[in-house]
Amino acid sequence: MNHSFENEGLCAVPAIEYRNVYKRFDRTDGKSLRVRRGRKGEDKIKKQGENSFANAEASAGALKEESGFFAVNKLSAEIRDGELITILGSSGCGKTTLLKMTNRLYEPDGGSILLFGEDIQKQDPVQLRRKMGYVIQQAGLFPHMTVEDNISVIPRLLRWEPARCRDRVTELLALVGLEPEQYRNRYPSQLSGGQQQRIGLARALATKPRVMLLDEPFGAVDAITRLNLQNELLRIHRETGGTFLFVTHDIHEAFRLGNRVMIMNGGKLLQMDTPETIVRKPADPFVETLIRSAMDQERFWNSSITFARESDK
Ligand SMILES: Nc1ncnc2c1ncn2[C@@H]1O[C@H](COP(=O)(O)OP(=O)(O)O)[C@@H](O)[C@H]1O
Ligand SMILES: [Mg+2]
Repeated sequence: MNHSFENEGLCAVPAIEYRNVYKRFDRTDGKSLRVRRGRKGEDKIKKQGENSFANAEASAGALKEESGFFAVNKLSAEIRDGELITILGSSGCGKTTLLKMTNRLYEPDGGSILLFGEDIQKQDPVQLRRKMGYVIQQAGLFPHMTVEDNISVIPRLLRWEPARCRDRVTELLALVGLEPEQYRNRYPSQLSGGQQQRIGLARALATKPRVMLLDEPFGAVDAITRLNLQNELLRIHRETGGTFLFVTHDIHEAFRLGNRVMIMNGGKLLQMDTPETIVRKPADPFVETLIRSAMDQERFWNSSITFARESDK
């Protein structure tokens, strides 16, 4: 069975390129920022909160209260065709915003995003999204549709023949590790959380998109199911050869899955490298702390196990 994506071999142009991308949102926590027009016509900015931004359109001569912050702050990165990139950062650091700008669910306020060398801003958002699979934490399945109908939503929209839809569902269920005949007629409520995530993954893979965006897809499943799903994802990535962008706040998951890891904090990209290099040469104090806390955890488990063995004697 050939699961490979629509591309013929790997492409030399980056699959995704972020160039100085930023996105700002209004603050809801009451912190604000003053923007004052200076003598030379430049905005003088008085920061009152971290991550604040200057409103470029602040009217001349006016003293203006602005409230807002960068959810993603001048981020630049290149993702090569066929990579499995993990995006790691704590809650609220801008991971989802970055992903949603990639498929134009959000529009950036500045910078550009290129998909295989083409500015996504110049592409029709619906067409763009068809080229990208998108998986979210709660799988987002339609509760009134069977597994088969959920998986074949896009193929049916694209008016594939019923037999072709059916064959693709069979292929996909096998690909995500579910017995096709046992599962195709079930409803989402008749599945476990882990199985629902598998269906969400299958649905996103249905039309063999070259790029997959995965936003904490395994965030809500238990540790053992999660480990299984991670292994399945690595296999699916190998078998399909697509470019995967996988968001997580779990350092173990990020370092286990990614051939490179993007570490974000406060909307900024702190480091993007292979797991080995990040561990060996953290580029930033925040990254260093992150690595050290993961190692401390590891030490805790190792010492607990030693302790348990000692007490067995
Ligand atoms: N639609 C929105 N309107 C206002 N603020 C938003 C919106 N979406 C996200 N944010 C804010 O932007 C920041 C980054 O959010 P998000 O990208 O969802 O973070 P993450 O996915 O890393 O947890 C957070 O402070 C969040 O509250
Ligand atoms: Mg998020």
